[in-house]
Amino acid sequence: MDAAPYLAALRDARHVVVLTGAGVSAESGVPTFRDRQTGLWATFDPMQLATPSAYERDPSLVWGWYEWRRAAVQSAQPNAAHRAITAMAAAVPRLTLITQNVDDLHERAGSASVLHLHGELGRPYCAVCRRAYALPPDPPRVVPDGERIEPPRCESCGGRIRPGVVWFGEALPQAQWRRAVDAASRCDAFFCVGTSSLVQPAASLTDVAIRAGAITIQVNLSPTDMDARVAHSLRGAAGSVLPGLVSEVWGGGNRGGQHRAR
Ligand code: APR
Repeated sequence: MDAAPYLAALRDARHVVVLTGAGVSAESGVPTFRDRQTGLWATFDPMQLATPSAYERDPSLVWGWYEWRRAAVQSAQPNAAHRAITAMAAAVPRLTLITQNVDDLHERAGSASVLHLHGELGRPYCAVCRRAYALPPDPPRVVPDGERIEPPRCESCGGRIRPGVVWFGEALPQAQWRRAVDAASRCDAFFCVGTSSLVQPAASLTDVAIRAGAITIQVNLSPTDMDARVAHSLRGAAGSVLPGLVSEVWGGGNRGGQHRAR
């Protein structure tokens, strides 16, 4: 007899969707945004750093700050939560991994085809002609937060290069967004892990899955607005809850035959 009511439903799930937020990278030492003391927005003003007008106003402050974050991410390692999601993908017939995170820790943990709704630190581009900019291979110089660094210039049009992230007030990448909505509306099981579910439209994906009748499970250290809406809310660190759940539901074995993540 299963302890938790959702275990059997997860075992039968053909298509699982996982939506992650900053909390999934917290145990890798990458700060979240809204955690009271440690969150980035507790120290920095998002309107001075994470909007197109902030970049217009002071491009070297913004570029310096994102280089600071890129250096922090490069020295971080995936944690047990990232690895548990990779293991889950190997255990189910189909898994769609959607993240709000701009780090590459899911990919470094072995996850494929990750849908990055808020862009990627590793994919800067020209603010004028939008041409992708190839970052130098060597890791970014570790800079103190707040150090101004003049953004590089585009080899094609001479425009300034901007961080490859989606800023407040900007549209999400449409292809990734459409695939995320499609997956949330067709899945059997939907996890929202380490997100405050405060930022739209990403947070609305959980409601799409709820309306589609999927079993919905939240994993978070603290209460969020989703507590009242998801079917199951697991309180705890993603790095402890997810590995335990994956082994309890799918054991170590591969239940889906081939591994397909899309
Ligand atoms: N395990 C599980 N949950 C955790 C952990 C952990 N180890 N550590 C923190 N959390 C939870 C917090 O309780 C919080 O609910 O993760 C959540 C992080 O929330 P936010 O900091 O708001 O991050 P996120 O939801 O990803 O933010 C969404 O906002 O600032 C923008 O573009 C940015 O993508 C980001 C978006």
